[in-house]
Amino acid sequence: MDLACQVMPGGVNSPVRSFKSVDGTARFIEKGEGAYLIDVDGNRYLDFCCSWGPLILGHNDPDVVEAVKNQIERGMTYGACTELEYQLASFIVNAVDAVERIRFVSSGTEAVMSAIRLARGFTGRDLILKFEGCYHGHCDAMLVSAGSGAATFGQPSSDGVPAAVASQTAVLPLDDGDALEKFMAQHGDSLAAVIIEGIPANNGLLIQRHEYMQLLRTLTEKHGALLILDEVISGFRVGLKGAAAYYRILPDLVTYGKIIGGGMPVGSFGGRKDIMQLLAPLGPVYQAGTLSGNPIAMVAGLATLKKLEDGRIHAELEEKNRLFVSEVISNLDDSSINMAGVASIFWLVFQPDLPRAAHDIKAEAISRYNRIHQRLLEAGLYFPPSGYEVCFISAAHSRQVLLQAAKTLADNILQEVQACA
Ligand SMILES: Cc1ncc(COP(=O)(O)O)c(C=O)c1O
Repeated sequence: MDLACQVMPGGVNSPVRSFKSVDGTARFIEKGEGAYLIDVDGNRYLDFCCSWGPLILGHNDPDVVEAVKNQIERGMTYGACTELEYQLASFIVNAVDAVERIRFVSSGTEAVMSAIRLARGFTGRDLILKFEGCYHGHCDAMLVSAGSGAATFGQPSSDGVPAAVASQTAVLPLDDGDALEKFMAQHGDSLAAVIIEGIPANNGLLIQRHEYMQLLRTLTEKHGALLILDEVISGFRVGLKGAAAYYRILPDLVTYGKIIGGGMPVGSFGGRKDIMQLLAPLGPVYQAGTLSGNPIAMVAGLATLKKLEDGRIHAELEEKNRLFVSEVISNLDDSSINMAGVASIFWLVFQPDLPRAAHDIKAEAISRYNRIHQRLLEAGLYFPPSGYEVCFISAAHSRQVLLQAAKTLADNILQEVQACA
C-alpha cells in the first residue's frame, strides 16, 4: 500500500477500497475464483463483496470467460455499431416493462448523469429530487446533501461541486410520505425528475415500503415530473425485472450498471420511447461515449443475463440468502444484532431494528461493524470495508459454504461482543 500511495491518491482508484472506514489495511487481490478472492500473499477469502455487485455468477464464470475470450480475439473496440449492442439492448427491452429504448455507457455514474440531463431536456425543468442515503454515482448533481434547517435545496457534499449546481438538487429523507407530499405540493410543478435507488443499498439496505414507492409514482405523474429508478445495484439482481417489479411501479427512466456488464465497465439508461427519442442523433439532448457499447462488455453482459433468463439462479440465490440470514441470526441469538436481506443482498446491522431511512442508522452500529471487520478477514471472510455497505452472494456461493460462513460470522461477532463486555 505504501508504494501504491506514492503514485495514486490514497493508493486507490475508488475511496472505499482504502479500508479507511474500518481502520484496516487493504488487501491486494491476485485473482478471483468462484466465490473466493485470493490476495497477493496467498490468503483465500470467501467474497461477500462480489466487486460491489456485478458478479452475480461469481468470479470467472466459465461461460462469461469464454464469451470474453472469443470477443477479445475479434477486437476490443471498434467505435462503430455491432450486433452485440443490439442483442444486449433487445434482451433488456424484452425483459423490463419500463424500458422501450436503451443506451449503453461505461459506468453507473455516466448512466445517472445522462438520465438526469435527458429528464431536464424532456421536461424543460431543472430541479431534481433525491433522497438522503441513496448513492447515484459521483456526478456533480448527485454529490449533494440536504441543506440545513427547513431548506430542502441541497448543498455540495464534496468540495469542487459548485453551490449553484447543488442548489438544483433537493434532498428529502427516505420513507417520509408527509415530507414528500409537502415538497411535491410546493415544488412538484418545477421538478424535472425524482431519482431513487431501486432498493437503496449504498447506505445500509434501506428497503422501502411498497406504499411509499407507489406514492412517489403517483405524485411524480400528477406533477409531470419523471421518475428515474436507479437500478445500478438492483437491476438483474432483484429478479429479471428489478425493483420496479418488486414495488409494482413503472418508472419513466431506469439506470443500470454492474450486472449488465458481467464484470466489465458498463452502464446504461433506458425508458419510455418518447423520452429516449430526444437523445442525439434523433433529438436535441447530447450524449456520447468513445467506449459506449464496448463489445467485450456487451458479450460479458449477454453471457451473464442469458444465464439468469429462466429465473432459476435468482430463485436459488434468494433461497440461499434467506437461509444464510436466518442461520446467522439464530447462531447469534442476540436481539441487539439484526440482518436485512432481499434477493441476494444482505446487510449486517448492529442494532435491533431494521432502518428504512438513513437517519435511523445509529453511529454506534457502524462502529461495531468496523471493529469486527479485521477479525472477519482473519477468519477468511471478505466483507465490504465499511459498515454502510451491503453484501452480496453469488451463484458460486454454495449452501454448504454459506452455512459454514454463517457459523464463522456468528462466532466472531459473539467473540467481539464478549471482548467489549
Ligand atoms: C445505485 C447506484 N447508482 C450509481 C452508481 C454509480 O455506478 P459506478 O460506480 O459504476 O459509476 C452506483 C455505484 O455503486 C450505485 O450503487
